[in-house]
Amino acid sequence: MSTQRRVLIAPSILSADFSNLADQIAKAEEGGADWIHLDVMDGHFVPNLTIGPPVVRSLRKLTRLPFDVHLMVTNPDNHLQAFRDAGADRMTVHVETCPHLHRTVQQIHTLGAKAGVCLNPGTPPLMLEQILPDIELVLVMTVNPGFGGQSFLPGSLAKLRAVRRMIRDQRLETHVQVDGGIDPTTAPGVIEAGADVLVAGHFIFISADIPQAVHSLRRSAYPSLTT
Ligand code: DX5
Ligand code: ZN
Repeated sequence: MSTQRRVLIAPSILSADFSNLADQIAKAEEGGADWIHLDVMDGHFVPNLTIGPPVVRSLRKLTRLPFDVHLMVTNPDNHLQAFRDAGADRMTVHVETCPHLHRTVQQIHTLGAKAGVCLNPGTPPLMLEQILPDIELVLVMTVNPGFGGQSFLPGSLAKLRAVRRMIRDQRLETHVQVDGGIDPTTAPGVIEAGADVLVAGHFIFISADIPQAVHSLRRSAYPSLTT
């Protein structure tokens, strides 16, 4: 049943060549990417630093693909307006960083963006129960956030099934996104467990042929595709 859902591919530029992001994004788009996933890290919530609104604003000119901004920052409320102004179409916050999660989601919607809520590997799906009807996307981290190129955590599959069950029980259409260690070997399992948006950084951007890598990830999601 879950495998009939259309699967979206969201390349994460975290593992791209930052000296040539225009080329890297163009290649991901050429391969058929659906969204561009932008990882924002503050060196506080996660032990790494990446990009802020000025970079997002510059990248906005390069593509019309939706920008899916993953905010791995403490106090995300302080930055939502700036990322929206810079061109974020979707913003995902971590439940672990949001004591007033409902208010944060409202703020994202007031800014005219789609709202996502993310769970770290150690955070139970129960944390979503109240907020689920108010959001467009759940992001289930399949590694601990902070770095690209980590190994997929197999325990994520049970959590994905639980999240998909909650969505089905509440008769919602919420996207279920996975992020971390996704490649053609792990994609079929996460899709079977209920994911419909695949973030992939390392697998796509370390490839010598980026468009082909996007294709092969999509093919792994739809084994019957021949092109
Ligand atoms: C990890 C980030 C991911 C990362 C994707 O904290 O949120 O988006 O770039 O992971 P890989 O490189 O494993 O696909
Ligand atoms: Zn991410």
